[in-house]
Amino acid sequence: MTDVKELLLSRIRDVADYPEPGVLFKDITPLLADPAAFTALTDALAELTVRHGATKIVGLEARGFILGAPAAVRAGVGFIPVRKAGKLPGATLSQTYDLEYGSAEIEVHAEDLAAGDRVMVIDDVLATGGTAEASLQLIRRAGAEVAGVAVLMELSFLPGRRRLESALAGAPLEAL
Ligand code: PRP
Repeated sequence: MTDVKELLLSRIRDVADYPEPGVLFKDITPLLADPAAFTALTDALAELTVRHGATKIVGLEARGFILGAPAAVRAGVGFIPVRKAGKLPGATLSQTYDLEYGSAEIEVHAEDLAAGDRVMVIDDVLATGGTAEASLQLIRRAGAEVAGVAVLMELSFLPGRRRLESALAGAPLEAL
């Protein structure tokens, strides 16, 4: 394991039975509170953004904002928030997706993405892949190109990677 990976792993706290019994929550707040770890993570996400030729970063609410925004500054690209429905004031594109029970909806400002943009999606966790898949659909519907998806953690016991395959259409899924 690389030193960076070891550092990042050591700063993620497992919280049992949160937010409900039987769930092991991956808490990244210790990582964010440690400047060495947060800097290493920001640098790694920025490096992936540049390596895959992205011109913009999309961050997924809410923890994708915390990770994606500094990576965008470091990489020298724009940052676009993809928000839960009802939070953006301008004209939006929205995408619904299925949850285990029910559905959810995310939105982006339509004017923030256009043909010619190459977009890296950043989030903390890939679980079922529903949120990331919906974000890729939004990016494509806006006419932009997908450069890839980069997450801090992939829960590899869930089928997120498989679910994303067709929406990625050959673009990389990077899990740090
Ligand atoms: C979590 C996580 C990802 C998403 C992953 O966010 O930060 O965005 O779920 O799950 P999926 O792969 O099954 O879609 P959450 O919806 O808890 O929102 P929050 O960050 O605003 O708390």
